[in-house]
Amino acid sequence: MERTLVIVKPDGVQRALVGEIIKRFESRGLRIAGMKLMRISRETAEQHYAEHKGKGFYDGTVAYMTSAPVVVLCLEGPDAVAAVRATVGATNPLNAAAGTIRGDFGLNISRNLIHAADKPETAVRELALYFSEADMISYERAADKWLKE
Ligand code: CMP
Repeated sequence: MERTLVIVKPDGVQRALVGEIIKRFESRGLRIAGMKLMRISRETAEQHYAEHKGKGFYDGTVAYMTSAPVVVLCLEGPDAVAAVRATVGATNPLNAAAGTIRGDFGLNISRNLIHAADKPETAVRELALYFSEADMISYERAADKWLKE
């Protein structure tokens, strides 16, 4: 069982795509272990995107991520990081396959609707930026036994 971080970015919230985006993860079998609507502080955004500091898109990304509310999610499931990344699609929506969230709803790399942790170690680091341990709840759903052999 693995946990990962997803953020429905300001454009996803403003375009009223929160339900549609969460539905895709739930339909795939991932479980919501944590969820909240919040405004990201500048300090948290800078920590989150620290690896991109100095790149041309860094300032714009931090400004955009702090500009309006987002929905942060902790999703749980077997190989959750890889399953979520495949559901989200390529970073640039123009390269994202049809059927992925970015491929179906996005056109621009700077407004790509959603963030998802890229590997398990990143997921642990990023989840700690947005959730306390007490905010994340593991539980069994009745249907979980139908999602695996
Ligand atoms: P995200 O998955 O949140 O990770 C970094 C973000 O920076 C990315 O999605 C985009 O929203 C944004 N970004 C803007 N321009 C670029 C770029 N040229 N390359 C990578 N990320 C970019």
